[in-house]
Amino acid sequence: MSTSALLAQIDQVGRDRRRGGYSRHVFDGGERELREWFTEQARARGLDVHTDRNANLWAWWGEPGDQAIVTGSHLDSVPGGGAFDGPLGVAAALSAVESLRATGFQPRRPIAIVVFAEEEGGRFGVPCLGSRLLSGTITRDAANALRDPDGVTFAEALRGAGGDPEHAGADEAALRRIGRFVELHVEQGRGLVDLDRPVAVASSILAHGRWRFRFRGQGNHAGATLLADRRDPMLPAARAVLAARETAAAHDQARATVGRLVPNPGGTNVIASTVDMWLDARAPAADATRSLVAELSERAAEFAHDEGCELEVTEESYSGTVHFDPALRDELCASLGDAPALATGAGHDAGVLSAQVPASMLFVRNPTGISHAPDEHAEPGDCDAGGSALADVLRRWAA
Ligand code: GLV
Ligand code: MN
Ligand code: MN
Ligand code: MN
Repeated sequence: MSTSALLAQIDQVGRDRRRGGYSRHVFDGGERELREWFTEQARARGLDVHTDRNANLWAWWGEPGDQAIVTGSHLDSVPGGGAFDGPLGVAAALSAVESLRATGFQPRRPIAIVVFAEEEGGRFGVPCLGSRLLSGTITRDAANALRDPDGVTFAEALRGAGGDPEHAGADEAALRRIGRFVELHVEQGRGLVDLDRPVAVASSILAHGRWRFRFRGQGNHAGATLLADRRDPMLPAARAVLAARETAAAHDQARATVGRLVPNPGGTNVIASTVDMWLDARAPAADATRSLVAELSERAAEFAHDEGCELEVTEESYSGTVHFDPALRDELCASLGDAPALATGAGHDAGVLSAQVPASMLFVRNPTGISHAPDEHAEPGDCDAGGSALADVLRRWAA
């Protein structure tokens, strides 16, 4: 079955009728259903599927062993996300394995498809949680203690999904088996549209992270409290949102986003007692990302002070700049008909793994250039071109 036909099978899973697009939160609802779908599809293609202690799914063609060729992506989405970010790489992997099998190909190295858990951090706040745990980039205790907005701990959710919170975390054996990793992904930008090409190879990822700014004031009555008597945390939060843009603009190619702002308790006629503001900051260099956040934290503390509020800044996740293995990148570009190499501002499990195993990525053209939103798109023909390119790579590497 083609990549696009596989994607068509899951088109209705995890749709978000309120926000539009898809809300597939890890280990829940639509994502859970997709994990079952993946397991069935992989078994139907003769693969052995198992769930590791971090609740990443692995589907093996051949005995799990050293120097394996591993491909895959994720099935969770951001709230109201697109159809392709994650599932495209999983569907392409299934389709690639099926097409290789159909030609009678016998891999000399085992091939595995992996579905990483919580790539978006949409439920527990830390992106690439499955690959961070596997690679020991986050500790078991830190991950287990994370909570979703309903107060469910990651440990509880992990157990419910077949993982093992007591033994979660760095999995040396699993990591050592990965000889090479390749993740196929929808492009999150217009690089391929501008180049008029269907497939590219990733070159680098910006340094990026997430910080929670908690502004504390005094909860009070919206009508009975004189303006002069207020300590309203929404004011410094609002100023910090504007300052995030200004601060990012002062750093070369930096980005700063506030996509989530939560007043507590959140009533129209209530002055909030706290406001949580999440900052997503990214820049080509790690020190630029860090100094952007430090500068903004300093300004936000002044804004808080002006309103008689307090500020507490907590780093929730951080990833340094990734430069994908240049030899692998060049080999992929050459073997895919002189495919272009493109940098990206989006984080990926391949980026997390790249610190420890030879990792690479393929991008598929996105005509809208939009991602993390319902308008994300990839034409069926381009999805299938991506699936074929992935099959070529797997055949060459596993031969
Ligand atoms: C994940 O897709 C991210 O880059 O935020
Ligand atoms: Mn994403
Ligand atoms: Mn993704
Ligand atoms: Mn991502």
